[in-house]
Amino acid sequence: MNIFAHNLGMTYPNGKKALRDFTADLSSPNMIGLVGPNGAGKSTLMKLLVAGLLPTSGSIQVDGKSLKSQEKRLKAGLGYLPQNFGLYDELTVRQFIDYMAALKGIGEARTRAIDAVLEQTNLVSLQKTRIQTLSGGQRQRVGIAQALLGNPELLIFDEPTVGLDPEERINFRNLFSQSARDKTVILSTHIIEDVQSVCGRLIVLYQGKLRFDGTPEALIRMAESHVGVMEQAAENPETSYQITARINTARGIQCRIVAPELPPYARIVDPTLEDAYMYLIGREEKSA
Ligand SMILES: Nc1ncnc2c1ncn2[C@@H]1O[C@H](COP(=O)(O)OP(=O)(O)OP(=O)(O)O)[C@@H](O)[C@H]1O
Ligand SMILES: [Mg+2]
Repeated sequence: MNIFAHNLGMTYPNGKKALRDFTADLSSPNMIGLVGPNGAGKSTLMKLLVAGLLPTSGSIQVDGKSLKSQEKRLKAGLGYLPQNFGLYDELTVRQFIDYMAALKGIGEARTRAIDAVLEQTNLVSLQKTRIQTLSGGQRQRVGIAQALLGNPELLIFDEPTVGLDPEERINFRNLFSQSARDKTVILSTHIIEDVQSVCGRLIVLYQGKLRFDGTPEALIRMAESHVGVMEQAAENPETSYQITARINTARGIQCRIVAPELPPYARIVDPTLEDAYMYLIGREEKSA
C-alpha cells in the first residue's frame, strides 16, 4: 500500500495547530519510527492516516487515490493500535480478540487467525483470563494482538511498547521488524532504543512540524562533533549545556553533553541515536 501525505494540516476546533504542512511518502515496505516529544503531533498524524480524523488542510492519497475514496480498502488492510484504547473488561482475552476479528470481517479462518496473534503476542496462557484482571503490559499486548489480526499490510502502532517489560519490548521489536519485511509499519515512541535497531527510517515531529525524515545513520551524522563528555567538576553552571547522560566513573561523575559548539574542555565522542535526537530537538527548541 502506498500512502502519500501532502501538505497535511490539522487544527483542532479549539484553534490548536497540532500538525502543519506535513508531506511524506509512506510507501511499503517500510518500518518507520515516528518520534517527538509530548504534544508533537504524533497521535494526530496517526489518526489522520487511519481516517479517524479529517485533515483541516492538505490531503492523503492511498495508491494514488484520495483517502476518502479508498477508505474501505484502507480499513480492510489496516491494523491500528491507538494510544488510548478501550478494552471490554468483562470479556476474556480470547473473547475480545474474537469480537475484534468479527468486527474486522474475518470469517472463515477466524480460529486460526486468533491463535496466530495470541501466539505472536505471548498471550496463549492468558487467553481465558478476564481483561479486567490483566496488568498494564498484558493489556497492551492484547491491543497489539487485535491490531495484528488478519495480517494487515499497513500497521500503525501508537506507542506500542508503553508499559512493556524489557523482555517483551525485545519480543515486540523482533515482531515489528519481521512484519515490516513486506508491509508498512509506522510506530510512534518516546523510547529511541525501540526505533534504533528496527527502523530503517525515522520521522521526527516537533510542535506539529516535520523536522527530520531519513535514516537513523543520517540523523547521527548531523550530530557528529556536537557530542562531548566532560567531568562534572568542569561544568560551568553559567552555561546551560544540554546533558544527555550522567555516568559514574572511578574519577567521579562524567556528563555527556550535546551542543552546537562544545566547550574546549569537553572531549568529543561519537554520537548515539539518542544524542542525535536530543541535539535536533534542542536546536529546534532554541530556534522556536
Ligand atoms: N482533540 C483535541 N483537541 C484540541 N487539541 C488537541 C486534541 N488532541 C490533541 N490536541 C493537541 O494537539 C497537540 C498534538 O497532540 P498529539 O496527541 O498529536 O501529540 P503526541 O505527539 O501524540 O503527544 P504524546 O507523546 O503526548 O502522545 C497537543 O498540543 C495536544 O494538546
Ligand atoms: Mg500521542
